[in-house]
Amino acid sequence: MKTPITVSVTGAAGQIGYALLFRIASGAMFGPEQPVNLRLIEIEPALPALEGVVMELDDCAFPLLQDVVTTADLDEGFKEANWVLLVGSVPRKDGMERNDLLGINGKIFTGQGEAIGRSAAEDVRVLVVGNPCNTNCLIAMHHASGVPKERFFAMTMLDENRAKSQLAVKAGVHSSAVTNMCIWGNHSSTQYPDFYSAKINGVSAAEVIGDEAWLKETFIPAVQQRGSAIIKARGASSAASAANGVVDTVKRLTTPTPAGDWFSVAVCSPGAYGIDEGLIASMPIRTDDGETWSVVEGVQVNAFSRAKIDASVAELNAEKDAVSALL
Ligand code: NAD
Ligand code: LMR
Repeated sequence: MKTPITVSVTGAAGQIGYALLFRIASGAMFGPEQPVNLRLIEIEPALPALEGVVMELDDCAFPLLQDVVTTADLDEGFKEANWVLLVGSVPRKDGMERNDLLGINGKIFTGQGEAIGRSAAEDVRVLVVGNPCNTNCLIAMHHASGVPKERFFAMTMLDENRAKSQLAVKAGVHSSAVTNMCIWGNHSSTQYPDFYSAKINGVSAAEVIGDEAWLKETFIPAVQQRGSAIIKARGASSAASAANGVVDTVKRLTTPTPAGDWFSVAVCSPGAYGIDEGLIASMPIRTDDGETWSVVEGVQVNAFSRAKIDASVAELNAEKDAVSALL
């Protein structure tokens, strides 16, 4: 049997947790031959509910699921973790922006970063989902002593999937025909879904759709505001689609990216595309070996795209300033 991959999930009894754990345990994240261990972390008051989730995991008798631990202790929770999925945090309510959560959630990520540095496996990779995920990731990264910056990610895959789906509907094609979809910047209402470099059946999406007014005035705001639209409709923030975004992000970071394509994830900027070094910003990423990633070079950035990227980066810098006491 292959050595199991150990996955730690915070906020495991929450909405996203409930949609995510079963997919990890079923093999959707690491494939049908890869056993997994789950280390599930919650705050004390949520541990009884988490026990109920574990009862349900037991009741699935998943062939790939080896060991399940539940705990409120961070060092126990991150022990020997190969992947840490930082989901636990408060979601926004109707009328809030994601960065309104900075003051509430930011401090959670200092102690979590420290515990990851102390207790996780040497090859640990960390994906932050709890909002505002880019800046929470920055905080965790700063506190995770000994863990290379390249191992920290914040999720913009849900935005990428949303953008692909919107473009596919408009063009009358299946969503799988849309490739090279880059979300630039922050997972927030300033994010820039880059329709100029996205492709539909290999041709620029802007060219295929042929309606720049729709792309600029309808498509971009629809993607930027999709999280709010879901909160309005459901009375709670996206959960199943967010969990799907987590599965897709880990899959794309652990399997070679098809030739010519890229995907969106926020990484610690190496200074590419004029994005300040050290910010956790989304950009076009690919991996050739499923372990190391690189920023795709040579993506065309015209004046419109430049202004949109700069606006989102300015917001990331403002968020960074707002949490300077935690860095
Ligand atoms: P939820 O309220 O249903 O669940 C959050 C869980 O986290 C709760 O069970 C809570 O007890 C737990 N928690 C809180 N503080 C914790 C801590 N310090 N340690 C461990 N667990 C803790 O919320 P949800 O719908 O699952 O959303 C979780 C987060 O994910 C929110 O911040 C939400 O905004 C964010 N989110 C991000 C994306 C994205 O694309 N990046 C998408 C959807 C949601
Ligand atoms: C989303 O994009 O659905 C999440 O980030 C939740 C939110 O607050 O929008």
